[in-house]
Amino acid sequence: MNLKIFSAVVFALTTLLFNPGWAQETPSVDRTSTGGAQTLEDIMARQKQLEVDESFRSENLGDPANAAPITGPLGTQGGTSVADDYRAIRYNKIDPSTQVRGPAVDVLIQDEGMDWLQLREGPVLTYGGSAILGIILLLALFYFIRGKIRIAGGPSGTKIERFKAIERFGHWLLAGSFIALALTGLITLMGRSFLIPVIGHEAFSPLAIGSKWVHNNIAWAFMLGLVLTFVMWVAHNIPSKLDWQWIRQGGGFIGKGHPSAKKFNAGQKIVFWTVMVLGFSVSLSGLSLLFPFEMPMFASTFELVNSILGTDFPTALAPHEEMQYANIWHSIVAFLMMVAIIAHIYIGTVGMEGAYEAMGNGQVDLEWARQHHDLWVEEVQAKQGKGESS
Ligand code: HEM
Repeated sequence: MNLKIFSAVVFALTTLLFNPGWAQETPSVDRTSTGGAQTLEDIMARQKQLEVDESFRSENLGDPANAAPITGPLGTQGGTSVADDYRAIRYNKIDPSTQVRGPAVDVLIQDEGMDWLQLREGPVLTYGGSAILGIILLLALFYFIRGKIRIAGGPSGTKIERFKAIERFGHWLLAGSFIALALTGLITLMGRSFLIPVIGHEAFSPLAIGSKWVHNNIAWAFMLGLVLTFVMWVAHNIPSKLDWQWIRQGGGFIGKGHPSAKKFNAGQKIVFWTVMVLGFSVSLSGLSLLFPFEMPMFASTFELVNSILGTDFPTALAPHEEMQYANIWHSIVAFLMMVAIIAHIYIGTVGMEGAYEAMGNGQVDLEWARQHHDLWVEEVQAKQGKGESS
């Protein structure tokens, strides 16, 4: 065989042979320098995803035979140290019991907490933050292309009552509390990464404590606002055939036409149901977080989902795991709501001429109402006509 080819084959085989990927066996580690404890090699091997023989830890549980006499110094542990006990618990070698009573007190080590932390500091924060920036950019782009949606032909000068005082109260209770919750929630989730580097620990500490207090207490106003607006508006938000036509015509946002609508058009119904469904879910997970370990709901939800969809979500959850799921779910749902609400606020303010007054003083221009809610205007005027004639 040509010498060059032979050397190339030998070189390739040698490389493959010494590639760590082949090394299934755990390299034997000399642990005398650490007195049998973990070494740098163990850590490096774990980082390379190699199988590490854990027996040096799982078997290192102390030996009662070595116990110092109970009368001697350090003799009370009976030959095992606290570290030995914790190792025994981690590797399920003993079945400890506790005198302390209360939820979750019997969980001493909970590995899943690390997954929760990484999820919270990683994807939840980055995807959530990007979604908020993304919707703001999209709306800016939309404003740049489409501009403000004007009242065709200008306002008529005649007013019609759109929302009664109680409706506006319900809306602003919901809206004000949501905005406070969103801001304090973002400070709680993102402050460590974005505010501490800018304002420092001393300034962040009272801000974080204040945010938590506001968040925990304003939550009740949000729930009340949610119930109020649901009761007042649900009847106007039942989907109908008209919504389909509204959607097919792009809601009048694209093009010039104004599709017919009653009190709420299809776009508003989407906002209503998004707020109600996500608002209910964020409230439930929020309650579960407000009362730690008292309202676990994920194991039973996963059980239900598994039985319907045939999925394999875990159904035996430690109390802390329940809280971790509630926390992640709470953040995801809150981000979805924030994205929807930012778009809603855009339309209610800079996006559409004449819209804000509906929630401002309750009176909208008749021409605005005819263009966006023609059938509702007809209904109101028919009722007023009846009222006047009777
Ligand atoms: C500065 C913030 C906000 C402004 C300016 C605003 C403005 C408005 C306006 C003008 C309407 C009535 C639209 C019409 O006449 O048809 C409305 C309706 C509504 N708002 Fe807001 N809103 C704000 C924040 C919020 C927030 C934070 C929520 C919920 C968390 C919310 C939930 C709703 C719902 C469910 C409706 C009824 C459905 C709809 O019209 O889309 N609003 N809002």
